[in-house]
Amino acid sequence: MMNPIDFFKIQRRFILNSTKSFRRVPEKTVMDTESETRAYNLAGSLSMIPVYRVFTKIACYLLPERPHNNLSELLVADFGSGPGNLLIMMARTMGKINKKIRFLGSDLSKPMIDIASENIASANLDTKISVLKADCTKIEFVKRNSADLSTSLWVTHQFRSASHVIDMIRLMNNLTTINGSILLMDFVRPPTEELVKMVVKYTGSGIPENDKNYINSLKASFSFSEWNVILEQARIRDVKVAITSPIPLFIVIYRMGENTCKRIINNSLLPPLPENFTFWNRFNSMITQFLIEMSLRNGGFFLSE
Ligand SMILES: C[S@@+](CC[C@H](N)C(=O)[O-])C[C@H]1O[C@@H](n2cnc3c(N)ncnc32)[C@H](O)[C@@H]1O
Repeated sequence: MMNPIDFFKIQRRFILNSTKSFRRVPEKTVMDTESETRAYNLAGSLSMIPVYRVFTKIACYLLPERPHNNLSELLVADFGSGPGNLLIMMARTMGKINKKIRFLGSDLSKPMIDIASENIASANLDTKISVLKADCTKIEFVKRNSADLSTSLWVTHQFRSASHVIDMIRLMNNLTTINGSILLMDFVRPPTEELVKMVVKYTGSGIPENDKNYINSLKASFSFSEWNVILEQARIRDVKVAITSPIPLFIVIYRMGENTCKRIINNSLLPPLPENFTFWNRFNSMITQFLIEMSLRNGGFFLSE
């Protein structure tokens, strides 16, 4: 069997240049039952940690050094915060490089907000992080032009249509200060169902129930060409796009504000990786490499390139 890295090096160009793809299969929009939210929370405390680490690392790089308008604290706004595990990791890690940061998360699901509140309280971070029930495609859950960094991970693939993604990106832009940063990351849907299976075969956990959910999430994600249209229509200035390499599994959409830390934090500042996640260990180092390249290039790839 071909090694997965070589396989995806060969497929990468096809995935990124393909204008046709099998039809997107949207998932249920909101995780609103107690059992779904508990299962997601459990996964968040185990198998998702490597992705949270990568996201947190990029978020630290994009975090402005000082709050806008000489306010006393930076504000990070998280769109679709789920059970709050990402917010907790960002608060713990960013707290080591800047003590004065506040976090505000939003989620449409009441059970998610309840679990997030429990998690935040057990992490003793309730003075730093608040969460509220809100539709992050419509509701201004922080004041306009007040967030120094707006973030969103794994949320857009749950939306019914691309127009909701455009709404959320515009809202992220409106709620973020003019010199602030934006970071959005989600899966990219491969062009064929065969490739979806290959991605899950190489990167999945091997646990049938988890891999089934993973397949559904990939099928519900937007393809690279759909993302191009979404970003053209959202018309946000200075937005840059990067795709993880060599496996084009995630799209990273970001705007780098003025006065960002541009600091690639040391892995020792992050919580440890779970044991036995050999793929994810590899994946994490690949993305770290990508992040370094991104900083050297001073900002990924413009869409028009
Ligand atoms: C896959 S989870 C990701 C949660 C979190 N960002 C993470 O990375 O763990 C997606 C979350 O988006 C929430 N969501 C979906 N549509 C939303 C909307 N319109 N407004 C707010 N939250 C939404 C869901 O309820 C769910 O908690």
